[in-house]
Amino acid sequence: MKGILVAGGSGTRLHPLTLAVTKHLLPVYDKPMIYYPLSTLMLAGIREILVVSTPQDRAQYEAVLGDGSQWGLSLSYAVQARPEGVAQALHAGEPFVRGDTVAVALGDNLFYGNGLSSVLQRSARLEEGAVIFAYEVKDPRRYGVVELDREGRALSIEEKPEHPRSSWAVTGLYFYDRDVMRIAGAVAPSARGEREIRDVNEAYLAQGRLSVEKLGRGYTWMDAGTHASLLEAADFVRAIEDRQGLKIACVEEVAWRMGLIDDAQLRRLGEALVASSYGQYLLRIVEGG
Ligand code: DAU
Repeated sequence: MKGILVAGGSGTRLHPLTLAVTKHLLPVYDKPMIYYPLSTLMLAGIREILVVSTPQDRAQYEAVLGDGSQWGLSLSYAVQARPEGVAQALHAGEPFVRGDTVAVALGDNLFYGNGLSSVLQRSARLEEGAVIFAYEVKDPRRYGVVELDREGRALSIEEKPEHPRSSWAVTGLYFYDRDVMRIAGAVAPSARGEREIRDVNEAYLAQGRLSVEKLGRGYTWMDAGTHASLLEAADFVRAIEDRQGLKIACVEEVAWRMGLIDDAQLRRLGEALVASSYGQYLLRIVEGG
């Protein structure tokens, strides 16, 4: 399975923060936002990842993430000429995916919780259909919303409905089989002029091939696409990290714990950042502290 990080878009909801910098490189406490969805894909066991961005942001992503080899990954880049929807950004990955199965993570989504890795790794074994993740929220009107029957099967999916049929938001993480590029390529623009990821999921639902994984109370899911949610996400990460002394979405640590890099490489990465508490953390964990 390949991975796609959807990290384009215009970020207008974060203006003026995003006038010159893409939202996905803004800090969520101690690391760039993109580290969170990147670590989600890594925890799913995915190594080959494409970053889809606007043409003007691509060089910044390359400067921050490189070719991924420092973390035992293979990262490559593609551009979406205009921000005309998540399904279009996904479709820009067609030459990269080349008929493989694919996991898609939105660049502003943060997932956290005990047992998340095994849920992700199970989903990454998908060969047929699609898996989406649902999370209960107080204000579902801000999100895609999935209506579920008693057995937890999807009945409908709506994008930012005025009158939501449930409180289950569709999170920004999707696992798809080999049909997804054909489906994404056929999605037409919505009333707001975007090729919606909702329509890709709706196509799987109509074919009876959509599974929904509910992420229950033990999990945290946030997106950081507004001023308030960006601050909330940073506050959350800071609270957990300060309490436990363990980091959330530290890609170097994830790479090391998953066996993608060895002690010597983690030490090198830590030494390169040693002036920051982030770098000191890497050195501390490699010494077993
Ligand atoms: O965060 C979860 C939500 O993400 C879902 O519940 C919705 O169903 C889904 O449509 C999406 O809604 P948003 O309104 O949050 O989408 P946003 O415009 O923020 O874009 C999501 C990510 O995709 C963001 O990181 C920017 C990127 N993007 C967006 C567009 C429109 C692109 O890369 N290209 C695009 O053309």
